[in-house]
Amino acid sequence: MSEEALPFKEKYYPGLEEYLDFYEESVRDIEGFWDSMARGLEWYKTWDKVLDDSNPPFYRWFTGAETNINLNALDRWIGTPVFDKVAYYWEGEPGDRRTISYRELYREVNRLAWSLREEVGIKPGDTVTIYLPMIPELPTTMLAVTRLGGIHSVVFSGFSSRALADRIVDAKAKVLVTADGFYRRGRVVRLKDSADEAIALAREQGVEVEKVVVVKRAGVEVSWSEGRDVWYHDLLEKAPSRAYVRPEPRKATDVLFILYTSGTTGRPKGIMHSVGGYMTYVYNVFQWNWDPAPGDVYWCAADIGWITGHTYIVYGPLMNGVTSVMYEGAPDYPDPGRIWSIVDRYDVTTFYTSPTLLRLLRKYGDQWVEKHSLETLRLLGTVGEPINPEVWKWYYEKIGKRKAPIVDTWWQTETGAAMISPAPGISLVPLKPGSATLPLPGIVADVLDYTGDPAEPGKKGLIVIKKPWPGMLMGIWGDPERYVRTYWSTFSRPEEGIWIYYPADYAVRDEDGYFWLLGRADEVLNVAGHRLGTIELEDAILTHPAVSEAAVVGAPDPVKGQVPVAAVVLREGYEPSPELEEDIKRRVRELIGPIAVPARILFVKKLPKTRSGKIMRRILIALLEGRPIGDTSTLEDPTAVEEVKKAVEEFKRLAKK
Ligand code: PRX
Repeated sequence: MSEEALPFKEKYYPGLEEYLDFYEESVRDIEGFWDSMARGLEWYKTWDKVLDDSNPPFYRWFTGAETNINLNALDRWIGTPVFDKVAYYWEGEPGDRRTISYRELYREVNRLAWSLREEVGIKPGDTVTIYLPMIPELPTTMLAVTRLGGIHSVVFSGFSSRALADRIVDAKAKVLVTADGFYRRGRVVRLKDSADEAIALAREQGVEVEKVVVVKRAGVEVSWSEGRDVWYHDLLEKAPSRAYVRPEPRKATDVLFILYTSGTTGRPKGIMHSVGGYMTYVYNVFQWNWDPAPGDVYWCAADIGWITGHTYIVYGPLMNGVTSVMYEGAPDYPDPGRIWSIVDRYDVTTFYTSPTLLRLLRKYGDQWVEKHSLETLRLLGTVGEPINPEVWKWYYEKIGKRKAPIVDTWWQTETGAAMISPAPGISLVPLKPGSATLPLPGIVADVLDYTGDPAEPGKKGLIVIKKPWPGMLMGIWGDPERYVRTYWSTFSRPEEGIWIYYPADYAVRDEDGYFWLLGRADEVLNVAGHRLGTIELEDAILTHPAVSEAAVVGAPDPVKGQVPVAAVVLREGYEPSPELEEDIKRRVRELIGPIAVPARILFVKKLPKTRSGKIMRRILIALLEGRPIGDTSTLEDPTAVEEVKKAVEEFKRLAKK
């Protein structure tokens, strides 16, 4: 952490002081600041009030205002040079390519919106679940839904049918948009099959999906339900070729979309983002992060199924008239140079990805990088997990050739866009490898100790946000109580009128005020930059007939950051075996998806528990991390530790091989 600040000063604005001046100004009058920032956007009607804080923590931004995000993502470009600019360079995994201009995107969104209204019957306020791979029809569908005033709930195409069903049921979605299949590592993933299974599972829980729109991507045979299923291309055909659908006026305080994320219980949370607040925050933060210039080609190599894709592949770039790259497949297919060959093919200037992907590509060896020029890169970004200083340096030297600053962005599904990160669009502060640097303008962040006092510089504590911001979640779909409990009950003092947002991340602030984010402080794992709840995994494992008890924790992993490891106690009559291990893993794959599959099932006779019967996950974690297990006085049966210890050692031995 004593890393010297890197000398960007010569090449960029002499940042820190100028930045801090701008920042101080922004937080002195939060409402005034966001008022001026929101004026760069198109509204049908401007606001009566910037921030309604009369019912905290249910803050509402831009009350009285009306707009539609399409106005800013598409319609505002009509008659400007952007309209004929490329919106997306798309590349499929097999190597097929499409180029889509803003004009073409606008046309297709209008035609799809027309048909979704006339043929499918979508009305303002309806929720539509979108289960699509990384194909251009995904942003098109999101925009068509929001154009009609509908609410989208995008479900990552790597999730299983069960995970999809739970999300359909929670959102009570009547319409599902999916595809026949897509390509992943050279194989076709049959997405429509999972969608059909999910619809059947949702029906068992009382939610009937009435219409299914299917994009033909892979050209595989699919089962078809007459009257319910309709091809996406047939819908487009039905619309007039010059169809125009007026973007439905929405209240700024309406829900723009729901996106599910994992929490500390078995049930995922439907995070709700607002029409006006999200739009304003994303529009501005995108500029601050990426300093967009007319010739830029920007590539955020995330999946739109996660918040990063919503903000940094769909709404952020489109609202800023930027050209983006979109890629369907695996990053190392057919070889580990795939990412870099795409950078060179499109002359990518701005590249944004996760530390996990960087660690993976670095592991393959530099020969895969050196085959490519990468000369056009001028700005690099990371998101999703802490980035280790070694990987930061590799990224900076090997990929950016020491001329591209690294924008390490700390944020969450709940925050809408980056919160702590460099802002080269304003003035670049000196960077420190592994630190996300400073809060963005308008963001009041701090690090507190357990008692709620500010932590001393250099001391580990918990990051908090002390003032509302426009990109904040509006709440949890259908569960206002959980919203208050999860995010606002740890440090808030309502009786004094003090409300503090709690992200559940550890952090350190150094002497220069820089933030170093250190991972989750709750029972949530971060596997390859994806959030997984330990309880969600345990619930899935416990559905296996052989399992009586399960404890899931994260084990350190050199590529993925963390991988889930499960300690499992079997029921009478079952014996540990490799087949049983595979079978339990398969269960997790079916119930949640491939990203959640444990790296290892440790079969034990007993889990370490307190005398009151609480599983002591921290003992497992300490063993996996090779740390002392600490105080064991509350342990009910010390022999349980010995057994777990043996199992962990065996796991580590195998992992090394
Ligand atoms: O623990 C933090 C980690 O990812 C969590 C948020 O996950 P999710 O909602 O899925 O959103 C991921 C993409 C924004 C955070 O609570 N995290 C995210 N970015 C960083 C990070 N940890 C360290 N450094 C980051 N830059």
